[in-house]
Amino acid sequence: MSAKEIAGRVDALGKRITLDYQNKPLILIGILKGAFIFLADLIRAIDLPISVDFMALSSYGNSTKSSGVVRIIKDLDYSLEGHHVLVVEDIVDTGLTLNYIYGHIKSRGALSVKICSLLDKSGRRQVAVPLHYKGFEIPDEFVVGYGLDVDEKYRNLPNICKLVRAIDE
Ligand code: IMP
Repeated sequence: MSAKEIAGRVDALGKRITLDYQNKPLILIGILKGAFIFLADLIRAIDLPISVDFMALSSYGNSTKSSGVVRIIKDLDYSLEGHHVLVVEDIVDTGLTLNYIYGHIKSRGALSVKICSLLDKSGRRQVAVPLHYKGFEIPDEFVVGYGLDVDEKYRNLPNICKLVRAIDE
């Protein structure tokens, strides 16, 4: 996916979110680290007075496979009470990570919790998670760039590229 294709899709998502959350207090929660570039572009495509918070998680899986066992490294700074929440993720693969985050955030008293993911590998889903806003559907391939990494590398690529050979496979 080229930087231009990504920018067009992010802009369209931002416009839809702007329409859907008119007159609703909205907090976007970026899931670190993978979503930081997507979130940075998405918030500039949303024409609303939003707030932003972050959560950082560590997965016990190896670099290209999720284990679903997740530990919170950085929790939210603010209470979610009285706010609508949009969780911003880079990619949903098995769904195990997002399923955990969704449960955690829903227990914090938000008015509503929805999910926005740039990429969706729906063919690999093990747990159903509601994806309210989605950038692109992708096949079962490992991808890097635009915030997504393998062993912390390639996050800075402007395009999203298929990783031809995983380091640990
Ligand atoms: P899940 O728990 O299997 O849905 O995995 C979600 C997390 O695994 C994402 O937030 C990413 O950090 C990572 N991940 C899954 N697939 C990819 C990929 O193709 N490239 C980079 N990271 C990925």
